[in-house]
Amino acid sequence: MKKRILSGMRPTGPLHLGNYHGALANWVRLQEEYDCFFFVADWHALTSDYEKTDAIRGYITDILLDWLSAGLDPEKSTLFIQSRVKEHAELFLILTMITPVPWLERNPTYKDQIDQLSNKDLSTFGFLGYPVLQAADIIMYKPFGVPVGVDQAPHVEITREIARRFNHFYGPVFPEPEVVLTQTPKLLGLDRRKMSKSYGNAIFLSDSAETVAAKVATMVTDPQRMRKSDPGNPDVCNVYDFHKLYSPAETVADVNRRCRSAEIGCVECKKTMAKYLNAFLDPIRARRRYYEERPGRVEEIITAGSDTARATACRTMEEVRAAIKL
Ligand code: TRP
Ligand code: SF4
Repeated sequence: MKKRILSGMRPTGPLHLGNYHGALANWVRLQEEYDCFFFVADWHALTSDYEKTDAIRGYITDILLDWLSAGLDPEKSTLFIQSRVKEHAELFLILTMITPVPWLERNPTYKDQIDQLSNKDLSTFGFLGYPVLQAADIIMYKPFGVPVGVDQAPHVEITREIARRFNHFYGPVFPEPEVVLTQTPKLLGLDRRKMSKSYGNAIFLSDSAETVAAKVATMVTDPQRMRKSDPGNPDVCNVYDFHKLYSPAETVADVNRRCRSAEIGCVECKKTMAKYLNAFLDPIRARRRYYEERPGRVEEIITAGSDTARATACRTMEEVRAAIKL
C-alpha cells in the first residue's frame, strides 16, 4: 500500500513558473511514489473573492489544464474539485464546533492577509474559518503528508491541532498529517520582485514561445551593468537564475564567464535563456494542445476523480458520524 499525499490549490488564475517550481513540479514527482489526491479549492477562492465570483469557473478550467499540461497524470493521481465533494462541507461544519476561535485569530496568515488585501473586506466568518475548511479537506482523506510551501505550513499545523482535539473528544479517527515542505529554487519575476500574477511580472505555463521571448527581453538584469562593455555580475542577475534552472551546465558556465568579462551582452544572453526556457515549456505546451483538442476528456477526468474522492470521503464521514454519535 502506497502512503497517501494530499494537496490543493485555489483557482485564482493561470499558473506561472513560480507556481510550477513552488508546488506543481513537486506534485508531479510525488505521484510516482505516493497515492496522491490533488484538488481545486474553489470554496476557498470564495473566502476572499465572494464579491466577484464570475471568474472562478474559468480559473478552475485553467488550473486543471495547467495541471494536466505540467504532467499530473489521472492514471496515477486522483484529481478533483472541492465543491463536487459535499462531504467537505459537512466535516467543516463539525470541525467548527470544536475549533477555538483564538486558534484562528492567532493564525499568522490571517492577520497578514487582512493587512495585505486591505481593498477587500475580510472580516467574515468564512475567512476566519479558512483553516478549518482546509483541515476538513485534509483529514477527510487521512493522508500521511501534505506537500505545501512555507506560507501554508501554519494551516497544516492548525489541522494537526484540530485532528488531535477531535480524537481527544470522540476517539481516534484521524491521523495527524505531516507538513511536507516543498523546496523551491530561486526564481523571481521579470522585475525581480516575487513572481505574482497581480504584479504583472509572471511567465505563465500557457504563454506561447513568442510571448515568453518578448517577456524575457524585458527582464531586469544586473542593475549595475549599463553598457555591453561593462563587466556584469551574474550572481545578482535574475536572467542568470533562470539560466541555472533551464540551460545546460555548459551554457551556464559559459554565460557566467562571458558576462564577467563583458564578452556577452544581455540581449544575446536573454535570447539564449529564452530558447532553453521555451524548450522546457514545449512538452507542457504539447500536452496542453492534446487536452485542448479534447475538452470532454478533462471533464471525464475530473468527474472520475471527484467520484473516487467522494467514495473515500463518504467512508470517513460514516466513521465521523459514528464517533460523534449522530
Ligand atoms: N490554502 C491553500 C492555498 O492557498 C489551498 C488549500 C485548500 C489546500 N485546502 C488545502 C492546500 C488542503 C493543501 C491542503 O494554497
Ligand atoms: Fe545577466 Fe546575462 Fe546580462 Fe550577465 S549577460 S547581466 S547574466 S543577462
